[in-house]
Amino acid sequence: MTRVLVTGAGGFIGGHLVARLREQGVGRVRAVDRVPLDEWRQLFDDVDSRSADLRDPAECGRACAGVDTVYNLAADMGGMGFIENNKALCMLSVLISTHMLEAARWAGVQRFFYSSSACVYAAGKQESSEVEPLREADAYPAMPEDGYGWEKLFSERMARHYYEDFGLETRVARYHNVYGPDGTYDGGREKAPAAICRKVVAAVLAGSDEIEIWGDGLQMRSFTYIDDCVEGTLRLMASDVREPLNIGSEQSVTITSSSTSSRASPGSPSSATTT
Ligand SMILES: NC(=O)c1ccc[n+]([C@@H]2O[C@H](COP(=O)([O-])OP(=O)(O)OC[C@H]3O[C@@H](n4cnc5c(N)ncnc54)[C@H](O)[C@@H]3O)[C@@H](O)[C@H]2O)c1
Repeated sequence: MTRVLVTGAGGFIGGHLVARLREQGVGRVRAVDRVPLDEWRQLFDDVDSRSADLRDPAECGRACAGVDTVYNLAADMGGMGFIENNKALCMLSVLISTHMLEAARWAGVQRFFYSSSACVYAAGKQESSEVEPLREADAYPAMPEDGYGWEKLFSERMARHYYEDFGLETRVARYHNVYGPDGTYDGGREKAPAAICRKVVAAVLAGSDEIEIWGDGLQMRSFTYIDDCVEGTLRLMASDVREPLNIGSEQSVTITSSSTSSRASPGSPSSATTT
């Protein structure tokens, strides 16, 4: 029977991915996250759920033991406010990425998924309100988001070389602004959609008609609903696409006007700065 490991399973996307894998009855699912089990967003009785710090190579080895398929979603991350102020912490996720690939290799894992980000694209390609659609090849020449984006780009390449050198089948998704139930809402790690919702609610409750937004509000952003993110992840994992792939929406939205645009071609969200 297939045994699937999901890391970062106590978090937002990992929790939804475990839920979907259970629904699909893919086999036995093991779930690992650093936070204690009682703090996981979603917890299931029939899932082998473990609390472990995957910066530790021994923990990665235990997590991968007896597993065929790995979805590595564990990372220290948050919205733009978090990653701008915690660059070293974000880069330390390279310990998770590295030790998980190495553990997967030695455990004989057949297929390995890595969750990258639109932050691998140069900020300069994302600053204008008239951003061009981001195509996968635009990640090079490389000038990703400082800290978080560099770690993602490095780990993407490491996944590629684990296939080329060791034959481990790796799949890499570049997620674009994922939102939905159980997403981080406050505390400093929340992203734009949740932060805007929280600010609007707070303003309404306070009888105010003003909220603070970052930038001029005209930046174009694309947002991906969690179910689409999980669906894209599963389809990518089942595919033979070994190059990193954007998983996001084709529709861009500005914060202030709520106007939308659909300028991207399929597979190339016209997303702007995102985590
Ligand atoms: N949510 C988005 O919009 C988005 C966009 C691009 C990329 N991503 C990537 O997708 C993945 C999942 O993101 P998310 O939104 O679910 O974030 P999240 O913060 O909700 O989940 C990440 C989980 O990883 C866990 N983790 C962190 N360090 C760990 C460690 N040392 N050992 C074990 N677990 C550890 C955290 O406790 C957390 O539960 C991340 O790799 C993230 O960088 C997310």
